Amino acid sequence: MDIKELIKKALEAQKKAYVPYSNFHVGSALLTENDEIFTGCNIEIASYSPTLCAERTAIFKAISEGHKKIKAIAVVGDADFTYPCGVCRQVIREFGKDAIIIIANSEDEYREYKLEELLPHSFGPEDLAEADTRSEKNV
Ligand code: THU
Repeated sequence: MDIKELIKKALEAQKKAYVPYSNFHVGSALLTENDEIFTGCNIEIASYSPTLCAERTAIFKAISEGHKKIKAIAVVGDADFTYPCGVCRQVIREFGKDAIIIIANSEDEYREYKLEELLPHSFGPEDLAEADTRSEKNV
């Protein structure tokens, strides 16, 4: 996996951030199971709550194009190391339980995490599947 390439794409996406309210620019780039890259930026809306984070923009683009699994996702933002918000961590959990999360300041300065480190003891699709099995046994 070319981490520097993923960060480069995230930095390019960051330039497209539509952030008239926060002026906080975030870019993201992810790698699918078959090594395709999808990018996203944050998009802010005047009524605030419809605002979409860069990570979810990238993820929803990939899923809506038929992908089901994320191997890695890189995030860059205006903060000194911008970490994914809680909602984005949960969305990454849905499609990338084993994903590597790359938090970068530049192509050369980055940190790598497993999702488990950023969202320990998480809830996910398997838990619902398990509940189904359990309720079948109770019938
Ligand atoms: N933001 C992201 O795009 N990703 C994150 O993980 C953190 C927050 C965006 C949302 C909003 O447009 C701006 O950063 C300030 O919160």
